[in-house]
Amino acid sequence: MAMADGVSILSSNIHLLLLLISLSWYCTFVKCSNSTTIYDELRAKGLPVGLLPKGITRYEINGSSGEFQVWMEEPCNAKFENEVHYDPNIKGTLDYGKIGELSGMTAQELFLWFPVKGIRVDLPSSGLIHFDVGVADKQFSLSLFEDPPVCNPQVNADNDMLRAIW
Ligand SMILES: *[C@@H]1O[C@H](CO)[C@@H](O)[C@H](O)[C@H]1NC(C)=O
Repeated sequence: MAMADGVSILSSNIHLLLLLISLSWYCTFVKCSNSTTIYDELRAKGLPVGLLPKGITRYEINGSSGEFQVWMEEPCNAKFENEVHYDPNIKGTLDYGKIGELSGMTAQELFLWFPVKGIRVDLPSSGLIHFDVGVADKQFSLSLFEDPPVCNPQVNADNDMLRAIW
């Protein structure tokens, strides 16, 4: 009797162990729902993940309005064709193929920094992505945004402006 109990305890532990192993495999290869990232959200909306840099520590999204926010430890810059600056808090509205009401992202153009107010891709894709910088619609190749860029802690934007002036 005692022996039979021992065997059944052992076998239930094995079941538990197998369950844990399969769960961890599932999470590694399939992705658990609670580990969705802002990059997944971008991808789901037909946008390239390289629009946002590495180093995002937290994000929030409202599934019905598309309003989102991301946070990083510190402001930073990444270079595509132009230098792009990211504030530690970026906000916008995510919609299919576009981001509107964007704040916290600026792009350098002719030594000046312009707020990027919106971003959109053509549907169907033309291989281009458009940045609305207020004064103009700036086009880039989509291929520049395939992977989230490494973002370097802020190089002072004001210095660049001064250099342009002097
Ligand atoms: C999400 O957006 C909807 C529609 O704009 C709004 O009614 C709702 O309050 C928002 N939810 C949160 C948690 O902000």
